[in-house]
Formats: sequence, structure tokens, C-alpha cells
Amino acid sequence: MKRYIAAANWKMNKDVPESREFVKELLKKLLNIKDAEVILCPPFTSLFSIGELLKKSKVRLGAQNMHFADSGAFTGEISAGMLKSVYCEYVILGHSERRHVFGETDEDIHKKLLKALEKELKPILCVGETLEERQSGRTIDVLKQQYRAAFDGLSDNDMRRCAIAYEPVWAIGTGVVATPEQASEAHREIRQLIARQFSGDLAQEMRILYGGSVKPENADELIATDEIDGFLVGGAGLKVDSFASIVQSVDNYLQAQE
Ligand code: PGA
Repeated sequence: MKRYIAAANWKMNKDVPESREFVKELLKKLLNIKDAEVILCPPFTSLFSIGELLKKSKVRLGAQNMHFADSGAFTGEISAGMLKSVYCEYVILGHSERRHVFGETDEDIHKKLLKALEKELKPILCVGETLEERQSGRTIDVLKQQYRAAFDGLSDNDMRRCAIAYEPVWAIGTGVVATPEQASEAHREIRQLIARQFSGDLAQEMRILYGGSVKPENADELIATDEIDGFLVGGAGLKVDSFASIVQSVDNYLQAQE
């Protein structure tokens, strides 16, 4: 069975004491989780500290970004090797805030993806269209462009180490969630791109997450759609109760499939 993911992206929220408090509370609430893979992506400053707390748990640690160089004169940046040294297993790449607020290009993201794989991190590559792109009928083209640029030249084995998050920019932090149909359509398109580049089997194996205003209230409905293999959660991932409830929705769904 495919292991669906429930990942929280805290963005620039929570200092170290707040992060530790969250993790201690969360671990208590996740005792009965069996099948869902839970990933926390705190700010860089909390990685080491909560990595130690998570060591004996099944919760995985992820970073929100990294640089593509190994080391050097890149003031303010963090390398893949540094992330590995603080227990990171995953790294989010190409989040829309990185693309739109910090001007990351498809080329930067591709270089980061290759470096993450070289250093044995598992990338969660984010793709998604803006409202304007959707309204002008360019959603599929944008997804294709972002997908192709990121995964160009990858081997099957490297692709297997990646997950993809479809995050329509208009749904991020807005309270407007994609309908299950809108998400499914985008996910199907992404799966076809994988099938064309690699194989149908690999396309089925890959985990494609949905992100954008996921909340306890909409998680059950979204996860029930065939194409959605988990969530990347922003705002609702900042509160223990709401994130635990989303994890539970993912886990309930998986258990019902057994
Ligand atoms: P949101 O953010 O859940 O607050 O919409 C999602 C994300 O940016 O990954």
C-alpha cells in the first residue's frame, strides 16, 4: 500500500520553545496513527532541537528550502549537507512563496532538487498555478513547465525518492480550497507527465500531495479522492489539534483501504 503523507509546513512561524512544545503535544496525539507518514517542516532554527525530540518517533523531519551549492560564500543560505546533519529526511523545494516572493526560478529549483537527491534528502517538489494563470486557461501549461524543469534527466530511482505537492497559489493561505475535482484534474495531469517520462507503474507509485487551505473540515473529502495521496498543510499545521485531526483523516482513509 502507498504510504500517504501528512506534512506540516510551518513557514516562518514558531521559535525553538514553541516548536518543542508543539512536538511534545503532537506526539501524544499521534499514538494511534498506524499508516500515515507524518512530516514536520519547521524553520531552520528549530530543526536540530525538534529533530532530537523526534528521533525515537515515527514522525519525519523536513526543511522548507535549501541552497544548491555544497558550501561557500552564500550569506544566509543553508546547504543540503547541513540539513542532513540536523536529522532532516525531507526538503520542500519550489514552494510558491519561494518562487513568487523570493524569485526562485525553475532552474534554481532543478539544481536544488539534484543536490538534495545527491545528498540523500527526499524532495517534496511544489507546483501550482496562480489565479491569473488559472483564469486564463494556462493551469496545465504551468504545471507541465514546472514539472519538466524540475525533474528533467532524473533516473527512475531518483524520481522514486521524490514527492510532489500540487499547491494552487490561489488556495494557499486564502481559505479558498480547491474542489476535489480541481485537485484531481491537476493530479491526473501530473501523473500523466510522470507516466510519459518514466512509466505508468512509477506514476502510480509516486505520492502527489495537495496543499492549499487544507483544514480538518475538508481533509476527509479531499483524501477520499483517488488522486490525492496526502497533504502539505500550512496554517492548519500550526495548531496541534487541527494538524493531528488532518493526520487522523489521512490515517483513517488508509486503514479503511486495508
Ligand atoms: P495553507 O498553506 O495550508 O496555509 O493554505 C499551504 C502551503 O503553503 O503549503
